[in-house]
Formats: sequence, structure tokens, C-alpha cells
Amino acid sequence: MTSTKNTSSKTLKKEIEALKKEKGAIILGHYYQKGEIQDVADYIGDSLALAQQAYKIDAPIVVMCGVYFMAETCKIICPDKKVLIPDASAGCSLADSCNADDFRKFIEEHPGHTVVSYVNTSAAVKALTDIVVTSSNAKKIIESLPKDEKIIFGPDRNLGGYINSVTGRNMLLWDGACHVHDRFSIEKLAELKRQYPKAKTLAHPECRKQLLILADKVGSTAALLKFAIESEYDEFLVATESGILHEMQKKCPQKKFIPVPAEDSTCGCNDCNFMKLNTLEKLRDCLRDETPEVFVDKSIAREAIKPIKRMLELS
Ligand code: 13P
Ligand code: SF4
Repeated sequence: MTSTKNTSSKTLKKEIEALKKEKGAIILGHYYQKGEIQDVADYIGDSLALAQQAYKIDAPIVVMCGVYFMAETCKIICPDKKVLIPDASAGCSLADSCNADDFRKFIEEHPGHTVVSYVNTSAAVKALTDIVVTSSNAKKIIESLPKDEKIIFGPDRNLGGYINSVTGRNMLLWDGACHVHDRFSIEKLAELKRQYPKAKTLAHPECRKQLLILADKVGSTAALLKFAIESEYDEFLVATESGILHEMQKKCPQKKFIPVPAEDSTCGCNDCNFMKLNTLEKLRDCLRDETPEVFVDKSIAREAIKPIKRMLELS
């Protein structure tokens, strides 16, 4: 069946390919993007892989198909490149839960602490940070610090609490959360577990503790994908943003992936409305018009690059 929607997305994909060639642009895409965007990206990955990829890019234009803090991180890593994002209003509730002025006050109120920030933060918060981490490397990086080091961890209380529980640390946590991961329904997960007794539960560490204790595997999007690929099991309940199911299903066509719904879900899943703001049409326009472009204040970028580099060295 050839629907209008299919025809137009086919045309858009062709236009995107042509513009990419003409401009020598590279498209980076996060696993939470719409499937059709992941399919036209040159590289897809989790936050860590995208930051690592940004370091290797040899192209004048980079389009970050993700949310704004990801594009900012890319611009901080590649200051000489033109960094674009299809929709500049693609924010992040977790990054927004940590305002730089309030975070500075919090740090001042707790002197003598090493400041570790999750990558889901604004450039201004990164500039106040000693080491940036992602969900892929947070455990490893915290474990690399001396046992008695006093640590402030922001902004995600769920990820921070999880890292405390697996490392035995007692990091001081900023009280922030992601509106997607904080809202998975424990009751609906329990119901799915009854319905699919053989299924393994995969969960992102941004989920609440009550959900994480029900999971068979806790990890970043890349870690959950790897687990699904390598696992001998073939049914999975997935408690992270539903975009990841696209790559899981592509890599494991014979396996079954069931999204865990949000408490108030109407779609039976849990989507990040910010991630889903990017569309093929906006991506085509952004490549064609070279806007919206992402800028980071130079003095902030000078400070913010230091904890990002520390993270990449420790990863
Ligand atoms: P990853 O680090 O797994 O890519 O997660 C990013 C994110 O935004 C989770 O909500
Ligand atoms: Fe931010 Fe949550 Fe969306 Fe990830 S899923 S980008 S943490 S709002």
C-alpha cells in the first residue's frame, strides 16, 4: 500500500540525502528519535556515543537529531563546526530541573564536594561541574574516584540514587527528574510481567527505584540494546523512551519488545515529547536553510569543555 505519508517521507528522505551530500553534512541521531529519523542518520547512539562521535567528525555541518543539551554538547566539542538542530525548542525536563544559578548556590552551600553532573544539563550547569557523566559511564567514573571523596551529583535523583546503591557511595543528590522516566507505571509493569512471564525487563536508570528493583537489566539505551541483542531470551519489557524499540526491533527482528506504559499513557508506551519534536520535514528544512543553529557563549563553553573532556578520558 502506498500512502501519501509513505510517498512524502520517501521524497523527504531523498531530499535529505541530496542536501547532506551537497553540504558535506553529518547527521547524528539519538535512539529516542522517530524511527524514520534514525534511518537517515549517519550515526545513531546514546548520549555518550554521540559525544564521542562528535569528537571524530570531519564535516563542516553537524545536525544533532536529539534534544537541545545534546546539540549544545556537540557545539562545545566542535566549536568550529556549524551545529544545527531541526527543532530548537526540543528541550529536556531533566536539564530544566536544574537551573545554573540554583545549582551554583547548592554547590556553595556544600563546600569541599566534587561536582558530578549528568550530561542532561545546560552548558551553564556543565561549566559549574568537575566531571560530566552519562548513564553509560556514571558507575565506572564514580568508582574511579577515591572512596571517601565527597560528591555532589545532579540533576537526576533517580540515576544518582541508583549509582549510590550500586557503588555504596553516599553522593549528595540534586532533586531533579525526567518527566518520562519518572512516570512509568509500576502497576502496568506488574501486569505485563504476569502477561509475559518469560519476558526480561529492561530499564533505564532514570526510572524510579520502585521500578528498577523489578528490572533484570538496568542500563543506558546502548546497554539495554546490547543486552537485548546478546541475550538468549526473546521477549522484553522495555522501560525507557519508546524510540529505542525501533533499533531493538531492527537488530533483533525475531524477538519481541513490549513498551512499558506511563501512568497516564494513552498510546500504551512512553514517549518524550521533546525528542519527538524533530521530524523529517524539519530536518530537511534545517539542512536546506542551515538554521536553527546552536551557539554556546564562549566563556561558558571554555569551562564546560573541561568536565566533558574529563568524562571522555575516564570512559
Ligand atoms: P542515554 O544516555 O541512555 O542516551 O539517555 C539519554 C536520555 O536522555 C535518557 O532520557
Ligand atoms: Fe530529557 Fe527525559 Fe526526554 Fe531524556 S527522555 S531527553 S531525560 S525529557
